[in-house]
Amino acid sequence: ADQLIARAIEIVTENDRGSYTVPTKGLYPYQWNWDSCLTALGQAHFDEARAWAEIETLMAHQWPCGMVPHIIFHEESDSYFPGPDVWRTGRPVPTTGITQPAVAGFAMARLFARAKDRALATRSVRKLLPRISAWHDWFYRTRDPEATGLVAIIHPWESGRDNSIDWDAALARVPTDGLEPFTRQDILHANPDHRPTQAQYDRYIWLVQHFRSLGWDTERLHDASPFRVVDPGFNAILIRACDELANVAEELGEAELAVRNRTYAQRGRAALNSLWNADLGQYLCFDRAISEQVNSPSVGGILTVFAGLPKTRVAHLATRVEELASRCGYLVPSHDPAAAAFEALRYWRGPAWLVVNYLIADGFRLAEHAEMAERIDADSLRLIAESGFAEYYDPITAEPCGGGRFTWTAAMVLEILN
Ligand code: DGY
Repeated sequence: ADQLIARAIEIVTENDRGSYTVPTKGLYPYQWNWDSCLTALGQAHFDEARAWAEIETLMAHQWPCGMVPHIIFHEESDSYFPGPDVWRTGRPVPTTGITQPAVAGFAMARLFARAKDRALATRSVRKLLPRISAWHDWFYRTRDPEATGLVAIIHPWESGRDNSIDWDAALARVPTDGLEPFTRQDILHANPDHRPTQAQYDRYIWLVQHFRSLGWDTERLHDASPFRVVDPGFNAILIRACDELANVAEELGEAELAVRNRTYAQRGRAALNSLWNADLGQYLCFDRAISEQVNSPSVGGILTVFAGLPKTRVAHLATRVEELASRCGYLVPSHDPAAAAFEALRYWRGPAWLVVNYLIADGFRLAEHAEMAERIDADSLRLIAESGFAEYYDPITAEPCGGGRFTWTAAMVLEILN
């Protein structure tokens, strides 16, 4: 274990750019939103000050409307597409104009609970609380305009699960007319068979062009997007972040922030019921653009456990994970291997990811299913032992996929082993 910890620290440190950490060299040369927050959890085990700085840097690039962008382009780089010249969001330090899973509130609370340096932790939390809360406000204001209790994503990249089978039908309805020609960089740094397809990229970029043509007015983009999907996993992360933020706010006497965030969490958790699918025994996405459930058994509907769910639901999800375990060698596949569209090596269409394992295990632990949590942790460590610190893994053979020496994978190992 000591040797694994040392190797994990080495990877996180080698990707450290001073006040932010890149996910991996080449493929992802900037700061990514949820990568950073999960990375901070790992950093805290060897450098608390550095961990706080990681989240503070991210939040320093929040937009005035409250959105926290999915990438901050701190430095120029020609190894990534689409860069700042494609997004053109007009920010002082360039950023993208879409967001990512709202892990920050959870990460802040966890760092705060464990902090040895209490004075530093309190100072950091006082700065972060109002900002992260404003991000939550932004979510429920702009991404849930009809006050359903659940927010929609307007681009597959927002989910973090870029090319999940969940988005296939909704993405197929995104047009490509007027698409400006472009050259991908990702397939120069990673095996193209492990990455999204060209047809998917065309639609990713069309959406970016479309939002750009609307001046990145985030109050308008939800209604103007042909792609509007409610992802249970994405909502679960936001719900948990609201709850955790409310806990910390209560502790620090910030009553108003506490009440607001607690209300978001309670409404969100109640609304998750509408995404439950009894036949499968898991949650499913909802395509808001056509008002239909998405019949796609992905890990998003299992990650929902992270929200903090009633015991009966958690028991069903545990059964579901058992089913998946019987179909693969390593938990948790990002898609059910029994489904026809499953692809063991292609990014979010099958492979296992340590960050998702971590969040799912945490949800089971919260529900006092320690055994399931430990089983998932053990599979995460078996993947590392077999194949090193990869971006993601074939859940059947453990083949390492995507980028190598990957920051958040290493950060999760530090979380599991500490
Ligand atoms: C990428 O470029 O693959 C990223 O996942 C987008 O955020």
